[in-house]
Amino acid sequence: MKVSAETVVLVTGASSGIGRETALAFACRGAPLFLSARRTDRLAQAAGECRAAGAARVETFPCDLAEPGAGRRVVEEVLRRLGRLDILVANAGYGNSAPVRDYTPEQMARIWQVNYQSGYESIHAVLPGMLARGAGHIFLVASVIGRRSIPYTAAYCVTKFAQVALGEALYFELAGTGVRVTVICPGTTQTEFFDALERVPSGLASRDVKSMQSPRVVAETIARTVGKRRREIHFTASAKAALLANRAVPWLVDIGIGWHLKRRLARAASAVSF
Ligand SMILES: NC(=O)c1ccc[n+]([C@@H]2O[C@H](COP(=O)([O-])OP(=O)(O)OC[C@H]3O[C@@H](n4cnc5c(N)ncnc54)[C@H](OP(=O)(O)O)[C@@H]3O)[C@@H](O)[C@H]2O)c1
Repeated sequence: MKVSAETVVLVTGASSGIGRETALAFACRGAPLFLSARRTDRLAQAAGECRAAGAARVETFPCDLAEPGAGRRVVEEVLRRLGRLDILVANAGYGNSAPVRDYTPEQMARIWQVNYQSGYESIHAVLPGMLARGAGHIFLVASVIGRRSIPYTAAYCVTKFAQVALGEALYFELAGTGVRVTVICPGTTQTEFFDALERVPSGLASRDVKSMQSPRVVAETIARTVGKRRREIHFTASAKAALLANRAVPWLVDIGIGWHLKRRLARAASAVSF
């Protein structure tokens, strides 16, 4: 499958960061786009940039994916307005910083709905059409910490592990159908993610932005992967090395995480924040 002026692309979480850059990457390839997120002003801005970059058509749909069923409604709206959906980028999501003991069941249910369940709902809605055509590509934007959970981020990690698990199983279920699924696992990326982080007072401060990769790298990788059989994509050499170490010598990674956590807790104790 090649991206063209006929290839309809849905990007959730298109108002900023990886989603916005992914929309632009597809716009440069001339695809008609359907962009969704909550912030209407930012969505309109992203749509304008996509039109200027060459998108055949750009539709926007303001929508809160924390509402159960919203993931399905987005897809139904794409089909109603554009008649088909070829590429789904289930990207919308947010992070958290909280120890498990202080994160409420309501907060857990909400992050699950936005980060995992809404994407699953979209996939469930789009699959029949893709299977009938024998073509399509689904991207799940998960995370490198969908492979190794880290302290003070458990709720987020749970949702990212679930995305990885869904994509991993679906990859084999879709073999031979012409429909592809790829799990995208970025490491720390320079977006608004860390500003939008849901924190509780006992959470930890976010990372130093200097060590982050560009969202454009993630976006270009997504656009270039369309039609290819790639189950899971990781980015930086350090992320790949950490994953390898986690499989080969998990005890060593445990020590590293423990050491890193101690440093962050000490830094948080001396900082006046929240
Ligand atoms: N940045 C990183 O370091 C990093 C690393 C690994 C994975 N990721 C993943 O990459 C994806 C994109 O994040 P990002 O880094 O690009 O962060 P971002 O700049 O904060 O973008 C997040 C996007 O999700 C949308 N969103 C959040 N809550 C939503 C809701 N309730 N309903 C609808 N849309 C919602 C936001 O739009 P509105 O606020 O306008 O609704 C925004 O467009 C996420 O799934 C994240 O987990 C990020």
